[in-house]
Amino acid sequence: MSLPGVLDVLEGWDGIGVVMRHDPPTGTWIFVALHDDTLGPTTGGCRMKVYDRPEDGLADALRLAEGMTQKWAAMDFPFGGGKSVLAVSRPLEGDERRGLLHRFGELLNALGGRYGTGADLGTTTEDMQTIAEVSEHVIGVHGRSEGPMDPSPFTALGVFEGIRTALRHRFGSDDPAGRTVLVEGVGSVGEPLAERLSGAGARLLVADLDRARAEAVADRLGAEVVTLAAVLTTACDVYVPCAVGGTLHEESIPRLRCAIVAGAANNQLAAPEAASALHGAGILYAPDYVINGGGAMAFASIYLGMDDLDEVERRVRGISVSLDEIFAEAAVRGSSPVAAAQTRVARTLQRGPR
Ligand code: NAI
Repeated sequence: MSLPGVLDVLEGWDGIGVVMRHDPPTGTWIFVALHDDTLGPTTGGCRMKVYDRPEDGLADALRLAEGMTQKWAAMDFPFGGGKSVLAVSRPLEGDERRGLLHRFGELLNALGGRYGTGADLGTTTEDMQTIAEVSEHVIGVHGRSEGPMDPSPFTALGVFEGIRTALRHRFGSDDPAGRTVLVEGVGSVGEPLAERLSGAGARLLVADLDRARAEAVADRLGAEVVTLAAVLTTACDVYVPCAVGGTLHEESIPRLRCAIVAGAANNQLAAPEAASALHGAGILYAPDYVINGGGAMAFASIYLGMDDLDEVERRVRGISVSLDEIFAEAAVRGSSPVAAAQTRVARTLQRGPR
């Protein structure tokens, strides 16, 4: 890693700072980016990836940490923005991987709670359990011995509540009964979400890259399968992206035949301008980083010591309150909900912790 490269990446970044460390046994560069702790301790996932240059891993950590500040603030949740990147020189397995994760856990201990980590791209909940063997600064584990947890059902619950809020703003009633919803991607989040929607009486359409999976879910829930090619042009009340990001862009938006886009996928907007394009097309868009925060919220609550799962679920359902305020503000201003969410982030950070 070159010093000028690092300095270039850091120049202009407005975060608290970055802890950088090299791990000689695996040749990994470890970056822990602490962006903002106005609302609480910095918290965000740990990404493990082979980058062309370690500096690219640092740049990723900075960008993602800033994103976490916005995510927590938009949900008005008492955490700050942070993210870590393990820029590995090659894929690691077995003892090598465990060793790195343990040394990373010791670094977290040295930070004394200023940053808490969780699973992200390239790391698994099992990896988090490994880190938890040496450090308590890990979210998404039941404790040191009981094993990892799955965030997806909580994410699905948050998206379900978010869809209801969007329905109320668009149609005056939050009742999904009789509404046509198209769930794209019936995986860990999409399937339990489809189940909730179907249970609430929605007319369910499903699509998945894995056709057999789509058919199995459709059979079980009495849904109809839509081909991938037809997803964007199928008439529905709510398009629910729960697969990959980047599906909303200047070519896809004019083809959409839905009233609402509200789903779990990360980074649904291919570019920031897509938010105003959706607004211009009269489609109500639930900002992804607000509506898909249920898993993170649940894990963070448990990490803070909340052990009553009903209470955790109540908090996750609170995503509907954040979205409600965002939609209401967007309506008053005549702006896209994304613009309203950004204003809310700035205001919440200025206000400070509750
Ligand atoms: P998953 O991998 O369990 O499920 C994804 C499903 O989408 C799979 O069934 C897969 O076959 C299908 N799929 C993949 N590419 C597709 C395509 N191009 N078109 C249609 N279907 C496709 O993933 P998971 O955990 O359900 O996450 C879904 C999305 O939600 C991802 O974008 C993820 O980043 C995001 N997300 C997930 C959270 C969670 O708690 N699991 C939390 C926040 C965001």
